[in-house]
Amino acid sequence: MTEDLVNVERIDVSTNPAGGCIEIWTLNRPNRLNALNRATHKELIQACDKAESDDSVRVIVITGAQSDPGDERPKPKAFAAGADISEFSGQGSDDVRPFFENNAWEKVWNLTKPTIAMIDGYALGGGTELALSCDIRMASEDSNFGQPEINLGLIPGGGGTQRLTNLVGYGISMEMILTGEMVPATRALEIGLVNSVYPSTKLREEVISLASRIAQKSPYTVKVAKRAIRSSLDLPLTQGILAERSEFVALFDTEDSSIGVEAFLSKKKPKWKGR
Ligand code: COA
Repeated sequence: MTEDLVNVERIDVSTNPAGGCIEIWTLNRPNRLNALNRATHKELIQACDKAESDDSVRVIVITGAQSDPGDERPKPKAFAAGADISEFSGQGSDDVRPFFENNAWEKVWNLTKPTIAMIDGYALGGGTELALSCDIRMASEDSNFGQPEINLGLIPGGGGTQRLTNLVGYGISMEMILTGEMVPATRALEIGLVNSVYPSTKLREEVISLASRIAQKSPYTVKVAKRAIRSSLDLPLTQGILAERSEFVALFDTEDSSIGVEAFLSKKKPKWKGR
């Protein structure tokens, strides 16, 4: 990660199997409101590959760096204000297609580990889409969401028309995408776009607390749970129920299900093996 457009911080948390951590990925272009240029996508994709192959990483948090308030022209707070619009200028479909076919939104979405978007400020366009690629969204009261691509003569291209619609429903997704208007944090909470909203000063503490609680579960079972919930988005209900049953039954052959059941019966804390 030569340019450090994505800073990776590891926070060790008490987990078993021991040695687990939460990784916090901070988009680091605050003077561009963390706009997602191609180089940032590349670093995010690399971070996904590394985290996926590292068993110690239990939960991934994605957030945006804030500009230095002491700067001559301090910038507003941002998670990410979208794709980097300067990279769109003069581009035709053949120029943009290869990038959009291999982008960080899908890579983050396809992570098998749980992900949390920690949003403090603007999350617009590709920024809202990056948050939508995460499993859970936690925001500050100062956050604003939106899909303003319509104002550029475009539509969302990082999964927004699909994942936003899945999350908030057809009518609200239509309204957001067709008007391009921003939705403040309070409204985002009402429509289910975010899971929770906190004062900016409390957000990080709350995110780490939730991530730590998840990190204490069996990492194997957490992945199975994520896979089963995810299948609800792709499968018709009857097939989804069958998929869940097959995942559930298979868990009875894992060490962690025996450990969990025995720990409950003997009133002890489970010591997971992660298998
Ligand atoms: N791509 C590239 N640069 C961006 C950007 C983006 N998506 N969003 C913001 N920036 C840059 C601005 O050009 C500006 O650069 P400058 O300081 O060199 O002039 C800097 O970030 C700060 O943004 P600015 O527009 O000055 O802040 P503001 O407080 O006036 O407005 C926003 C904030 C978020 C409302 C405004 O920046 C905006 O509308 N951004 C674009 C959002 C968008 O359409 N995203 C979808 C892209 S597909």
